Amino acid sequence: MITLQGISKTYRVRGSRISAVHHVDLELQPGDGVLVRGASGSGKSTLLHMLGAMLRPTSGTVTMDGVDPWAGSPRDRAALRRSSIGFVFQAGHLLPWLSLQANVEAAGVSSTRATELLTSVGLAHRVDHRPLDVSGGEQQRAAVARAMAASPSLVLADEPTGTLDSTSAAAVIDLLEQARANGATVVLATHDSAIDLSHWRTLTMDDGRMVEG
Ligand SMILES: Nc1ncnc2c1ncn2[C@@H]1O[C@H](COP(=O)(O)OP(=O)(O)OP(=O)(O)O)[C@@H](O)[C@H]1O
Ligand SMILES: [Mg+2]
Repeated sequence: MITLQGISKTYRVRGSRISAVHHVDLELQPGDGVLVRGASGSGKSTLLHMLGAMLRPTSGTVTMDGVDPWAGSPRDRAALRRSSIGFVFQAGHLLPWLSLQANVEAAGVSSTRATELLTSVGLAHRVDHRPLDVSGGEQQRAAVARAMAASPSLVLADEPTGTLDSTSAAAVIDLLEQARANGATVVLATHDSAIDLSHWRTLTMDDGRMVEG
């Protein structure tokens, strides 16, 4: 279980303070699917980065299975992210010198499993290509396959379908649904109104504040 209690994040830029996330309380259980909506600049990415122990809240507490990731060392947090959290961010961050297949294997899975994951997002014919030798949407799908490879207990997806056509977007959503079915908590931030996830819990960010629905 993941809990956020009174989480806020204030950025300081040249003397001014930006309240990006304001006093958010949230409890997430294994298997939960959560959709985070909200206008550009409302705090969605900031919230996801705090959920992923990548960004330290200015105030409030985060606990993951009872543990505060900020009580440990940077090395502990890196280990936690590697073992338990799958990130899908807009810039795919694939390793450019490795093939798509090797990128997914680098997350610690067998060659068979890596091919299976890439096939599930429609990339069976591109496994030997490097990221720069495929399209932006294909890179994005490979990044999703890689994020799922270690079977993370928490999947954070920030606009994972933003650059995709509807068929590819559906493949990505299928993969996220599969992760949920396997017990992962999946949090998806998106503007994409074409995605129908009305059966997921919806949260809306409004100028840093979170409202249910
Ligand atoms: N590193 C940063 N330094 C200063 N301000 C930041 C930083 N990152 C984000 N902000 C500001 O914090 C607020 C929330 O940003 P955030 O990226 O969380 O929004 P978002 O909902 O993800 O927007 P989008 O839909 O455009 O991705 C915005 O006002 C943004 O300008
Ligand atoms: Mg964002």
